[in-house]
Amino acid sequence: MYLSHNASLVTTHVLQEMKNKGEKIAMLTAYDYTMAKILDQSNIDVILVGDSASNVMEGHPTTLPITLDEMIIYGASVVRAVTHAMVVVDMPFGTYQGNSKIALESAIRIMKETGANAVKMEGGREILESVERILCAGIPVMGHLGLTPQSINKFGTYVVRAKDEYEANKLREDALQLQEKGVFSIVLEKIPAALATEVSQSLKIPTIGIGAGNGCDGQVLVLQDMLGLSNDFSPRFLRRYNNLYTSIKDSVHSYINDVKEVTFPNDSEQY
Ligand code: KIV
Repeated sequence: MYLSHNASLVTTHVLQEMKNKGEKIAMLTAYDYTMAKILDQSNIDVILVGDSASNVMEGHPTTLPITLDEMIIYGASVVRAVTHAMVVVDMPFGTYQGNSKIALESAIRIMKETGANAVKMEGGREILESVERILCAGIPVMGHLGLTPQSINKFGTYVVRAKDEYEANKLREDALQLQEKGVFSIVLEKIPAALATEVSQSLKIPTIGIGAGNGCDGQVLVLQDMLGLSNDFSPRFLRRYNNLYTSIKDSVHSYINDVKEVTFPNDSEQY
């Protein structure tokens, strides 16, 4: 019996119970109504409206340019499709780092205008004041440590993070501080599997890994990547469950051919 499949709505409490019982959490990204409906009807536990929308929906090279207004449009579209999953919306770059009052205003806009269940924020000790203020308003927060793509200009590359002891210790401490503040879960992105396992075991709250091994309490992938909608992004952690790039291309070729050959529409496809 799966907790996630029995509950009509996945809440922070359900995710905590899943960790307590050792049931893994499945999270995927979505940014639009159509895809979110398929994920929800497939019984996914959590849908993340990630700021990876900046890359996969808008074609930007980084997640930095996406705006709060754009995230709200994606978030509201996803929420309209969902009856079961928890919906978490990423707070975009520049809406929470500088000032906790602005952070709270941004989080309130997300919750009011999308109807989502929680927000996600990248960073550790640097953003604790904003995290606390948002939590005080009753808004659940998911943390995000390790490779935090909004800091790409500081890191300089998308390589594995926390390989050295200094950065690993900082991550351990940040995870504990986020937990103490009250975040309900933490995404661990692209860090050594052994470190992710250790952090997951040391925390009471669930961790969700991406490129962080199977010792996390759940996993997340970007939907477009796992469906194979593009073939120009192939990190080691990515498992492709389909090859929709080829499948869609083949369908489009068939359509073009049918139109040119005047075999579409046929007699039964017209009025
Ligand atoms: O924006 C995103 O899709 C994310 C996941 C990769 C965790 O933050």
